[in-house]
Amino acid sequence: MRKVMNMTSIKLSPSILSADFTRLGEEIGAVLSAGAEYIHVDVMDGLFVPNISIGVPVVKSIRKAFPDAFLDVHLMIERPVRYVDAFCKAGASHLTFHVEADTPENITAALARTRENGVRTGLSVKPKTPASALEPWLGQLDMALVMTVEPGFGGQKFMADMMPKVTELRKMLDAVNPDCDLEVDGGVDPHTAPVVLSAGANVLVAGSAIFGHEDMAGIMAQLRGR
Ligand code: DX5
Ligand code: ZN
Repeated sequence: MRKVMNMTSIKLSPSILSADFTRLGEEIGAVLSAGAEYIHVDVMDGLFVPNISIGVPVVKSIRKAFPDAFLDVHLMIERPVRYVDAFCKAGASHLTFHVEADTPENITAALARTRENGVRTGLSVKPKTPASALEPWLGQLDMALVMTVEPGFGGQKFMADMMPKVTELRKMLDAVNPDCDLEVDGGVDPHTAPVVLSAGANVLVAGSAIFGHEDMAGIMAQLRGR
């Protein structure tokens, strides 16, 4: 049986995609001081998603400035196996790839390579991909990620119809890997967070809900349901 979800098991992963990149260090410092457990770094290649964001050098700089931060790196790139070593060396604490981004063989190889680097592993599904696509790897993941927007941009509308997938995945994980975290990414704000948490997720990514707001700590407390 899975442990009953409590406040301490909820983790917030502010997505720096919505940060002011001219003040990235300050912005990261602020969410960490406000108690963020993770820093979510969205990497986009303009192929897997129709946008280009940031990459290896930025992860490296963040790691240098914040040696103890947990860097939750979300790779929205084609054939992620090509870049596993680079992101691990740059200082990622955790790497999540998309199951749609390569062949099953290469996904297996990317996960193995990540673990060899001593970095935690995650796999994600886009909104149109069923939870069952993750099944072959569920036993070996540290985190599964359900997208609640089409990946590519911050500030999109939360897809509430993804909640049955979250609940299904939590059930599947409880059977084979109960300690695995379940993350939700896209449109999470103080209104949608309770829905996400009651569906069974415990790691909340939030970009536009947190950055650009004066009271980041207050919003983060609301996301935790306090
Ligand atoms: C979207 C990214 C998200 C994004 C979330 O492709 O993976 O992490 O930054 O932004 P919000 O919280 O604004 O939906
Ligand atoms: Zn993301």
